Amino acid sequence: MKNIYLAALLLLPVTILAQPAGFNYDESKVPDYELPVLLELESGKAVQTVEMWKELRRPEILELFRKHVYGRVPADVGTGIFSVVQEESASALGGIAIRRQVRLYLKAQGEEPFIDVLIYLPKKVVEASGKAPIFTGLNFNGNHSVTTEKEVPVHGKWARNDPRVGHKDNRANEGSRGANVSRWQVEMLINAGFGIATAYYGDIDPDYDDQWKNGIHSVFASSKKLKADEWGSIASWAWGLSRMMDYFEMDEQIDHQRVAVTGLSRLGKTALWAGAEDERFAIVISTDSGCGGAALSRRRYGETVKRINNVFPHWFCDNFQKYDDLEHQLPVDQHMLIALMAPRPVYIASAIEDVWADPKGEFESGRLASPVYELFKKPGIIQQQHPRVNTPVGGTIGYHMRSGDHDANAYDWQQYIKFAKRHFALP
Ligand code: GCU
Repeated sequence: MKNIYLAALLLLPVTILAQPAGFNYDESKVPDYELPVLLELESGKAVQTVEMWKELRRPEILELFRKHVYGRVPADVGTGIFSVVQEESASALGGIAIRRQVRLYLKAQGEEPFIDVLIYLPKKVVEASGKAPIFTGLNFNGNHSVTTEKEVPVHGKWARNDPRVGHKDNRANEGSRGANVSRWQVEMLINAGFGIATAYYGDIDPDYDDQWKNGIHSVFASSKKLKADEWGSIASWAWGLSRMMDYFEMDEQIDHQRVAVTGLSRLGKTALWAGAEDERFAIVISTDSGCGGAALSRRRYGETVKRINNVFPHWFCDNFQKYDDLEHQLPVDQHMLIALMAPRPVYIASAIEDVWADPKGEFESGRLASPVYELFKKPGIIQQQHPRVNTPVGGTIGYHMRSGDHDANAYDWQQYIKFAKRHFALP
């Protein structure tokens, strides 16, 4: 016991030093704050029924997030997709999976932009029941980074220069094949009876500030002069997930009523916004999504609104910049984003060393969203205290803070599988 305590003490300064300096990592320095009232209409009337939530308060909150945080999809953005199967195998991953690679053209067949979706389905489940539940999410480095199977090509698009996977000059290469297998745990999912469908986020919008000259934005006239409440990259990545969902509805081997959307970090923020905008996602899961994701902005613990807007000016809509250092003036906070998932199950995962993402602030969002679940007679997060490390908690809102740093790993996926099985009523 003593040793564990000592080890924790020794680890603490290292953890804190690994995070950007000049930000608050001290719980006692979290400012006092007052949150916007979740269950009250803008007119001041209390929200007491499921109908009032669904018909009045939910649309109000969704609209506030569109206008002030993520941005709305411009009116000229069409949603038609053309899907073309590029490659298929009935015996992938040593025979346990069906692999399908599908190209979704977003404008016209044969033209950019397109999303290449890599799908693995559990063969046994498809053979027994015709279709399988899936997890879906965007990946950072390309579909080839999620698997070692050589049939999955390396993309030729813009790539993040990530020395950890060996990408440089903004190009991906063979060296990153399989580099992110531990983040996706495809075989664990297949063995548990779930499929996975993933796509490279750069297919939808390359992740840098280019004044909307490439990716999905460039296709529509609105990109020439985006309004302050129109989409940033996070909203466009979330829009891409919805186009993937359009495809899932057409693929008979995918149980489109049992699709859990997930993502890590900026792609966890994206999964949450996708779940808010598109209620076809039956479960929503965020891993270490932090500021602009599951963490409460008003806590100003770790990353702040000003910092995120300065370093990533293209992620949110321009209106969000009005709240730099003025979080208390935001008409929303992130617990309201979690509440937009209700009554669907939502899972929030933190990592104890990832203090930049504010684990406690991520938990608080779930806890404070719980009253909306209670309206639906569903248990939210249940407990009041931030749980200990590696102790999953919750009802329809799940939460854990695992040991280790910013990432998604086997522990996270074990919890997501348990959660999805419980809520999808699967054996
Ligand atoms: C940065 C950023 C975070 C983000 C993370 C990521 O650390 O500040 O907000 O979640 O990148 O996406 O990897």
